[in-house]
Amino acid sequence: MQLYTLKSQVEISIDKAISLKKTIGLVPTMGSLHQGHLSLLKKAVQSCEVVWVTIFVNPTQFNSKQDLNNYPKNITKDLEMIYEVSKNINVFNPEISEMYENKLKIENFDFQNLDKELEGKYRNNHFSGVGTIVSKLFNIIKPNKAFFGEKDFQQTRIIDRLIKIKNFQTELVICPTVREQNGLALSSRNALLSTENKEKAAVIYKTLIYCKENFEKKSFKNIYNDCKKEINSLNDFELEYLEITDNKTLKKTKKNDVKKSFRVFICVLVNGVRLIDNILVK
Ligand code: PAJ
Repeated sequence: MQLYTLKSQVEISIDKAISLKKTIGLVPTMGSLHQGHLSLLKKAVQSCEVVWVTIFVNPTQFNSKQDLNNYPKNITKDLEMIYEVSKNINVFNPEISEMYENKLKIENFDFQNLDKELEGKYRNNHFSGVGTIVSKLFNIIKPNKAFFGEKDFQQTRIIDRLIKIKNFQTELVICPTVREQNGLALSSRNALLSTENKEKAAVIYKTLIYCKENFEKKSFKNIYNDCKKEINSLNDFELEYLEITDNKTLKKTKKNDVKKSFRVFICVLVNGVRLIDNILVK
């Protein structure tokens, strides 16, 4: 395993891989790794000759200083976990100044309003920050394939647009959500929950299953009201949003349409910790 902190050194290694015509796979992360991240890495190792994982807590995608400062970090454990997946993975763990040269400038993209929906309504400029950093990473690592999790489905739609806008020669590979036994989607933020709240947070996935099971049976309004009541009845839990959306545009929809596919997105604040999840319902 090789650990890099400088772009210039990564670029030398990438140039060599390209000259040898190796397939390059990239898994971008913010660290504090768990089995969800590792599932992406395993997929990358299976289908690419050279695999890169980046660990970088990107300041421009956080809209609250507190959220950024609280974001869990554990680089030593991260490196051990990566090593267990494969001894040949390259790790890029730059400082903020290496990626942003001391000015936290955000690039603006035309994400065709995908960035205005769901998370975008609550986290101003979040997806411009994601687009900015992923674009920088793609320019340095020039991946043939990039691996992202369905857990952040809106992010995958944004990356899909980014690839088209910037004409990156990169295939987007979307990997299924890895869950705890109780259904809770693995997330670095789960480390910020008390043991009791982590158990109770199983309600998030149960709610999504409820939405899927009742999708054709109840009105969207009734589904929403049932879910809101259930979640807000729990101490420390507050529903930020639950939206039934068109799977393509991610726009909120009020009624079923035989020709369309739908996805439900949920965000719950557990003692201020933001947990998101989603499910394809039709
Ligand atoms: P991070 O939250 O660290 O997630 C890195 C990748 O792991 C993302 O593609 C995310 O969807 C995926 N992932 C997280 N939890 C998962 C789970 N339970 N199952 C499967 N995949 C999961 O997403 C980011 O970082 C950042 O926005 C980033 C893309 C790195 C840009 O800064």
